[in-house]
Amino acid sequence: MRPSSVLAVLALGAASTLHAETVERMVLSRGGVVLEVSAPASGIVRIRMGRGKLPEDASWAVPAARRSARLPLKVTRRGEQVLLRTANIAARIDLRTLRTDVLDGGGRLLLADLAGRAALSPDGGFRMRGRMGGDDHVFGLGDKTGTFDRKGGAYTMWNTDTYKFTQATDPLYKTVPFFLAVSDRGQAHGLFLDNTWRTTFDFGKTERGVLSISGEGGPVDYYVMAGPAPKDVLQQYARLTGSAPLMPQWALGFQQSKWSYKTDAEVRAIARRLRSERLPSDVIYMDIDYQDRSRPFTVNRQAFPHVRRLADDLRTQGIRLVLITDPHIANAPGQGYAAYDSGAAQDLFLKLPGGRYYSGDVWPGAAVFPDFSRAQARRWWGELHAGFVSDGVAGFWNDMNEPSIFNAPGKTMPLEVVHRIESDDFAPRSTSHAEMHNVYGQLNSRATYEGLLRLQPDVRPFVLTRATYAGGQRYAATWTGDNVSSWQHLKMGMQQLVNLGLSGFSYAGNDIGGYAGERPSPELLTRWFQLGAFMPLFRAHAETGRADQEPWVGVAAQVEIRRRFISERYRLMPYLYAAAEENSRSGIPLLRPVFLNFPSVLAHGDRLGGSEDQFMIGGDLLLAPSPMLESPGDYNVELPGKGWYDYWTGRRLDGKGLVVKPDIAQLPVYVRPGAIIPRQPLVQSTAFIPEGRLELHVYPGAGCQGDIYADDGVSLAYQRGGFLRQRIRCEQTPSGLKLLFEQREGSWRPWWNGMALYVHGWDAEAAPQAYAAGGALATSVDREQNAAVILAPDLAGGVVEIDRQRAVDPQGPPQPPASAL
Ligand code: GLC
Repeated sequence: MRPSSVLAVLALGAASTLHAETVERMVLSRGGVVLEVSAPASGIVRIRMGRGKLPEDASWAVPAARRSARLPLKVTRRGEQVLLRTANIAARIDLRTLRTDVLDGGGRLLLADLAGRAALSPDGGFRMRGRMGGDDHVFGLGDKTGTFDRKGGAYTMWNTDTYKFTQATDPLYKTVPFFLAVSDRGQAHGLFLDNTWRTTFDFGKTERGVLSISGEGGPVDYYVMAGPAPKDVLQQYARLTGSAPLMPQWALGFQQSKWSYKTDAEVRAIARRLRSERLPSDVIYMDIDYQDRSRPFTVNRQAFPHVRRLADDLRTQGIRLVLITDPHIANAPGQGYAAYDSGAAQDLFLKLPGGRYYSGDVWPGAAVFPDFSRAQARRWWGELHAGFVSDGVAGFWNDMNEPSIFNAPGKTMPLEVVHRIESDDFAPRSTSHAEMHNVYGQLNSRATYEGLLRLQPDVRPFVLTRATYAGGQRYAATWTGDNVSSWQHLKMGMQQLVNLGLSGFSYAGNDIGGYAGERPSPELLTRWFQLGAFMPLFRAHAETGRADQEPWVGVAAQVEIRRRFISERYRLMPYLYAAAEENSRSGIPLLRPVFLNFPSVLAHGDRLGGSEDQFMIGGDLLLAPSPMLESPGDYNVELPGKGWYDYWTGRRLDGKGLVVKPDIAQLPVYVRPGAIIPRQPLVQSTAFIPEGRLELHVYPGAGCQGDIYADDGVSLAYQRGGFLRQRIRCEQTPSGLKLLFEQREGSWRPWWNGMALYVHGWDAEAAPQAYAAGGALATSVDREQNAAVILAPDLAGGVVEIDRQRAVDPQGPPQPPASAL
């Protein structure tokens, strides 16, 4: 077949109304290999390739509607090459080899020579090679340890229970086959391979400068995202796989866990202590020991006689209960164990090829495993939560869902276990565990999430999962599994969380204080709480049999530091919650590497422009712990620009760089010039309504703006208009500063009875004059915060004028200027 006829015959979907050279998708075939290119959204191309035919068009990560959307592709042919262009991205395919280059809208090569028909091997495996950009750094791939920049590393996707993992451990718990490549110039692109089988990504480790993606089976089905900024790539990826829904606000509160609080009395004592120590907190977890013989969906009634009463009593103290519900159902026929009996009656457990149940040992001993690839099994699983939900349990924790099996080769079930796919737009079929292993945890958490929504249609579900697959952010928050109490883990854990955020998992945390190993020193525990106060998920947890490591453990001075940082998180809740809400719409994570907000820092080179050791929460706050957390030595902090502020003192800094002397009582935090940060009076739980004013902290600078977002924190009413969103901007004026309060959106009525506006970097002795709607406002100076403070009514709109030159005579009343009269 001549190439021209290949185009003519195989350019499918070209409706007659389309221009002759515009197609909806392009299918090419050469030497028995078929390749398809489509553009599901602006800046994204999808490429699928198969031997004889294309792989099945179905996915656990990308919903059907997003996969089937097609932007028109403009086709141009030059010799043996065909160029398919759409807005911001193009694919160039060699018709002889089917090798593919992906280019951005300006013709810049993003990925060269990627696939090609030689990538497919006869045994069903594949190996795609491509050239990497020389100055590209690589991020994403979920929870991988190794190095922050994945360049030079190789990583395997195979969900694995990795107790006490190390920097060298791979694979780990999750599979997110998505990476973000960013050049020194801050130009970014991304690639997502939608394949749930065991795959490997090699970023120039085996062959310098060569990207190699290989798999043992499954589809060659990948998306390239053209950016061009790092944030654009994350938004493009979120467009495909979704962003995390807005979690209940309490999920951003402090969460106390331990394996296990063993009795009703112990759980109550923990709650009492949190309150008496004035440690703000929202959640207590109950680990496996609340169950009868570790059997999921049972309760040890000796230890926990009344879960409902316990949940109710904690609720009045502002504390919610989260219970573990693991997927391994005890293999206990004929014993009146409802979870087993109902699952068996509906034939929902996984089987070996011969038709017998697969049984493996986990916490309850011999266990069977739901086949979550069947919609019916997911529905049944969701219903198992009905009793706990009606008892007032607020959230659920899905663990061991790699799935983890004790004493088994590879710590999981045999690959020959048979799954039946009956779900979504997959063709109903049987398949082996090799295909479903990496998505088992994601489907487990999906079953929980969707089940909770069915049980309580107007309540935001909270699910925590350990294992997952790309797209799993739509269903659950996650944590990094069984870490170790060490300085090295604290440091490594931060990069894991940043990379999880870059992989779609914005709600991620690690076990504060460390899960396993030697008990943490008081300083390590304190530092972990300090950094944890800025992690998206702030959850303390530890293994059974260890000495206590709740925040009150140790000498009073250490406890006081931890209390101060936990409290700071609650004061910052309006800022964190606004970032969470933004994430639900954009996919931009809460925790961000510095380069995500400021791509130009990469040009500075040194430790990725600070991104390796420093990080940002939201768009405005930069945290700068020591690069060597336990070291008492001074260290340098490099800020992305001039004019930043010290968060703790409100003082404007002179240069871009500064030298910090570590102090266990402090964690350096800096604020972007131009930020407006909402804060609230301290409460001990997000369940309690703050009293008084909303604080708006203004840090004058370029691009000055900030957002307020509020709603009821728990229901879905925000999707029906029950929210408050407001942008506030600030502008320098000849005499001072003007704050512009844009019109509010939404119908939610705020809790605050007024606003306290803090204008930072205030070095004058006297307070300014300030006016709103022609009336003078009360002003003062807060020396500790280096701020002028202006007390205003709740401003649903309007302007506040701050006159710096006409300082208020502390003795006399303020005089409005002529312009305000
Ligand atoms: C797993 C979890 C850990 C939990 C334990 C008991 O090891 O990772 O967090 O405490 O199981 O459920």
